[in-house]
Amino acid sequence: MNNALHDAALAKIESAYDSPPWWYDIRGFFILTFSYRSTLMQQVRFFGRNISEHHLEAAIGTGTLLDLILRWRRWKGLPTAKIVGFDYAEPMLAGARKRFAHCKDIRLEREDATRLAYADESFSSANITNAVHCFPQVDLALSELHRVLKPGATAAMNVLLYARGPWPLRQISDRIAAWGMRKGILETPYEQADIEARVRNAGFDIVEARVSGNALMLLARKPVR
Ligand SMILES: C[S@@+](CC[C@H](N)C(=O)[O-])C[C@H]1O[C@@H](n2cnc3c(N)ncnc32)[C@H](O)[C@@H]1O
Repeated sequence: MNNALHDAALAKIESAYDSPPWWYDIRGFFILTFSYRSTLMQQVRFFGRNISEHHLEAAIGTGTLLDLILRWRRWKGLPTAKIVGFDYAEPMLAGARKRFAHCKDIRLEREDATRLAYADESFSSANITNAVHCFPQVDLALSELHRVLKPGATAAMNVLLYARGPWPLRQISDRIAAWGMRKGILETPYEQADIEARVRNAGFDIVEARVSGNALMLLARKPVR
């Protein structure tokens, strides 16, 4: 993708994710339930165990899910972490900044997932929650994620798959996906084999891959060479 197309893709992201944070969160709950066919608790448990001492929260959005995850970790007595969260869309980041205004261990930055400003091998874990299928250039974003992780670090991500399941659940998911693509908040759903191949091509080993509802829950590791 040349620079002009790249800039156009980013402009599309910024204008698609322009909702007020409160509306984004309500809409997100319906998308989670009827498109991903997942629950908040499933996500909290899956992503909550992949936070280590220097964590990267990619495409953090309004930070609502990360906030729930951190509460869950406190409740479980799990260790705290230094967290850097980034997103490209300012309206999303504004919500996260407000939410984490008093958290000294969380730094928020405007970054493009495909051109991260972080040094190689900066982070010991990363989560990409509900966002891989929103990246216009997913391969570049996965390579950048790989670059900024330390060898041995893990990346957890959930990826929207093409709708499956019985009538009418499949039709409902299909319609939500078509609406999301028209609006620009969804780039594309994936076939499981396709996204797994992309994650491997970016340099990761796949440690765990589990389909839940319409989403693939993936845990990947940057190999130690
Ligand atoms: C569906 S939201 C998920 C947000 C959050 N992780 C959550 O679980 O609620 C997808 C996010 O990806 C962000 N995004 C999409 N493309 C991006 C890119 N190239 N760089 C950074 N953020 C991007 C959007 O701005 C949006 O906040």
